[in-house]
Amino acid sequence: MIKPLVAGNWKMHGNTATASNLAAQLAEQWGDNLAVEMVLFPPFVHLSAVKAAVANTVIAVGAQNISQHSSGAYTGEISGAMLVDQGCDFVLVGHSERRELFSESNQTVAEKFKAAQDVGLTPILCVGESLQQRQQEQTLDVVAAQIAAVIDCVGLNNVCRAVIAYEPVWAIGTGEVASPEQAQQVHSAIRAQLGEAGVETRLLYGGSVKASSAAELFTQQDINGGLVGGASLEAQEFLNIVKLAE
Ligand code: PGA
Repeated sequence: MIKPLVAGNWKMHGNTATASNLAAQLAEQWGDNLAVEMVLFPPFVHLSAVKAAVANTVIAVGAQNISQHSSGAYTGEISGAMLVDQGCDFVLVGHSERRELFSESNQTVAEKFKAAQDVGLTPILCVGESLQQRQQEQTLDVVAAQIAAVIDCVGLNNVCRAVIAYEPVWAIGTGEVASPEQAQQVHSAIRAQLGEAGVETRLLYGGSVKASSAAELFTQQDINGGLVGGASLEAQEFLNIVKLAE
């Protein structure tokens, strides 16, 4: 049995008080529930406040980005060791907003993935096609190439012990969620690409997940949880989604 995982990507929202408050509400209601692994991804500057709010609970914390470099003259960057020092266990790698808005290539994403595993963080590798790529029926090729770039860098077994999130770019923040069939089709292709080594790898769906759409998505065979953006900023809505992954 694969333990489901539901992650909340808070993106660039909130302040220290709202971050602590949201984490505290989740800690109160999900603090000792082991049925689903809950991971919160606040902005860097709220990591320590969120970590404090979920102390002594089973809720894990992660960062939204990581430098591919381990230390040095990289103004504005945050290393993997710094994230571990802040109490992170996870990190998002290759989110489509990083790929698109900050020009992260497949190669850069692969290096970040490696940097994360080098310090013991679990990367959540985000992959997904644009609307145009879907319309041109390139979805499976695009996703396979994004994953292959990381396999080339760290090897198949290391990719399989991470988490992969399929997030169609056209579904992120748009309110337009992939149908369960569309999502399952890509998830099963990812599972096939990983082969024997990936039978236990957690594959998440992300893109406008809400409590109203999560139930059907989470019952698909190769969907083991979700990466939730907007709906993770509201405690009750996020908890409702997490419960549906049980
Ligand atoms: P969304 O974001 O749920 O707001 O679409 C998901 C994500 O970007 O990870």
